[in-house]
Amino acid sequence: MTSLLKVEGLHKHFPIRRGVFRRQVGEIRAVDGVDLEIDTGETLSLVGESGCGKSTTGRLLVRLLEPTAGKILFEGADLATLSQRELRAKRQAFQIMFQDPYASLSPRMTVQEIVAEPLRVQGRYADGGPDRVRELLELVGLRPEHSRRYAHEFSGGQRQRIGLARALALDPRLLVLDEPVSALDVSVQAQVINQLRGLQDRLGLAYVFISHNLSVVRHISHRVAVMYLGSIVETGTRADIFSAPTHPYTQALLSAIPVPDPAGRDERERITLAGDVPSPSNPPSGCRFRTRCWKAQDVCAEEAPALIDRIGVGHPSACHFPEVPATVGGA
Ligand SMILES: Nc1ncnc2c1ncn2[C@@H]1O[C@H](COP(=O)(O)OP(=O)(O)OP(=O)(O)O)[C@@H](O)[C@H]1O
Ligand code: SF4
Ligand SMILES: [Mg+2]
Repeated sequence: MTSLLKVEGLHKHFPIRRGVFRRQVGEIRAVDGVDLEIDTGETLSLVGESGCGKSTTGRLLVRLLEPTAGKILFEGADLATLSQRELRAKRQAFQIMFQDPYASLSPRMTVQEIVAEPLRVQGRYADGGPDRVRELLELVGLRPEHSRRYAHEFSGGQRQRIGLARALALDPRLLVLDEPVSALDVSVQAQVINQLRGLQDRLGLAYVFISHNLSVVRHISHRVAVMYLGSIVETGTRADIFSAPTHPYTQALLSAIPVPDPAGRDERERITLAGDVPSPSNPPSGCRFRTRCWKAQDVCAEEAPALIDRIGVGHPSACHFPEVPATVGGA
């Protein structure tokens, strides 16, 4: 089966410029060789520490950024080979939503105008636009009378719904959600997540869900990709990643998830990573995680480990010495 979206060897390097002549003195390898596949109707989460390249990957997927290198195949078609007109049509099929959509919404626009804008831009408003806006508001759980109000009159959770209605206006097939619930209270987070799941079932949407919050990721994902310094170190189904992580970095991330326990006990061993994330302008040789890895050996500095299933656990990890640990956290 052809996947909805497939990326191969995706790179995004930002030039570092200095001096009066803005000479390039280096580059930030924000995304440095990412392969991903997303099927219709599934949620793939991208997780990893701040600065590992999640947002840059998300922006590349929806073509808000041009890749330095790599192939993006949408339903099997290479986007680079499409004409401008074909590309414009395809681009409507993938949309992105950020943590606080209000930041990108004009305070002078009503909810009706905000949701209608993508339809107007694409010349699709004249034909049934007002009905479509009403339908979109209803889809995300807002009432028709909300359409005459301004975004700042709404709570964070409701603003997220307005952003969602706007993102859905052009019938996308894939939504990149960049930290969509991070700024919300826990109870509101749950409502927005449930809403997203309901919409996915109803519309067959695929999500790329970017988040720091592994508890939320565990709730929403079908598959998970763990990023470290611009590349994917482990990927698999939710159960693979949460119950049988084989990469030391994944194990460390999972060990930090709080486990609710009525007696307040948490007897799991917490893995504390030494040192900071190295700069993406000068990543370590070999395995990028080696400067913080408690299992590192000489070969780790010499050879970059490929993202493969070395030990037959059914999902790949980029480590020379992967292991199946005792269950961490549970799926
Ligand atoms: N436009 C840009 N120009 C230069 N460097 C950039 C640019 N955008 C991102 N970067 C750098 O690329 C790296 C990856 O950034 P990115 O925003 O993708 O990380 P992230 O995983 O989304 O982090 P966070 O969890 O904090 O949102 C960082 O080192 C960042 O500083
Ligand atoms: S390859 Fe080596 S340094 Fe990298 S994660 Fe595995 S053991 Fe650690
Ligand atoms: Mg980000």
